[in-house]
Amino acid sequence: MAKFRRIGVLTSGGDAPGMNAAVRAVVRTGLAHGIEVYAIMEGYKGLVENNMRLIKNPSEVSNIIGQSGTAIYTERCPEFATEEGMAAAIKTCRENQIDGIIAIGGDGTFRGATDIASRGIPTIGVPGTIDNDIAATDYTIGLDTACNTVVTFVDSLRATCESHARCNVVEVMGRHAGHIALRTAVATGAVAVAVAEFDFDEDEVIKNIIEKRKAGKRGFVVIVSEGIPGYAEKLTKIIEQKTGIVTRFCCPAHVQRGGIPTLEDRLTASEMGEYAVKQLLDGKSDVVICKNGGKLCTVDISRALKVDRMLKGKLTAEEEAALTPEEREYMTARCAEVRANMKALYDLVYEIR
Ligand code: F6P
Repeated sequence: MAKFRRIGVLTSGGDAPGMNAAVRAVVRTGLAHGIEVYAIMEGYKGLVENNMRLIKNPSEVSNIIGQSGTAIYTERCPEFATEEGMAAAIKTCRENQIDGIIAIGGDGTFRGATDIASRGIPTIGVPGTIDNDIAATDYTIGLDTACNTVVTFVDSLRATCESHARCNVVEVMGRHAGHIALRTAVATGAVAVAVAEFDFDEDEVIKNIIEKRKAGKRGFVVIVSEGIPGYAEKLTKIIEQKTGIVTRFCCPAHVQRGGIPTLEDRLTASEMGEYAVKQLLDGKSDVVICKNGGKLCTVDISRALKVDRMLKGKLTAEEEAALTPEEREYMTARCAEVRANMKALYDLVYEIR
């Protein structure tokens, strides 16, 4: 087991409910192993600017498990991506004798983690993003809370929607993946869902709304992912024009990121935080913690980022050609699995609408 005296923990990118539970787990696991833990403030910016707090006592993270947001703050730090920023970050680690880092966030956070690891400081990524857009893992911290926030939001809309016999088009987050849209469309009984991953048959949806109205249905909810930029507002106008039903656009926006973390998020974050520290102590670096089929495991960050790009159709021809047969097999199978899971939810919306 590698000898660690001090590790740092940071949260980076968009905040996600449950990040605090992960921070708490990292701090407490580290302290329990006799390791000092630095809370690096505002993500990678804290490393660049040497802004951190040494946590000496487990009580310093008491009660954050149930809080939304991130108690150690977050930033999207462009400076960190520059050579100067990276040099400053490494200097901070050396000066503060930090010999390992746990970085909680999304794909941008993992790219940063790889950069640090390649400069000799073992770094482990923990997936924290409401979007669930890390293809190597079934689950990212924050997804469940964000979805529950959307469900509560749409349940409230339903009441007024029914009273007025209207349609509501709701745009939900997920810049690069439609997981929130798909899950919440099923859970709110939406009449339709539109995500970037699958074709959307606008004419068929409108026909269905007209038929249902004729059959006596008063209120309609349509969920659209922000992964199709601008489409939710456009669709609102189209539905109103073509069905004659008063249609309103609604968007819970950043409220989706601010819910009180659900049990699922607290649990997964606690498991992943503890596991991440143990993996670091076992000598692992440059990996992301994943939870697949209910089991924790690690995946190399470069592989996790590549499988993401493959899923989004963004893998370059050179990257594709450089894949080993084993990598290709893993990545193809993983992409097929993620797509199939999403497609099952998509189909379910239309089966039971
Ligand atoms: O954290 C992910 C996410 O919430 C996306 O779903 C959304 O597109 C984006 O962040 C919003 O980013 P910002 O906080 O910079 O507005």
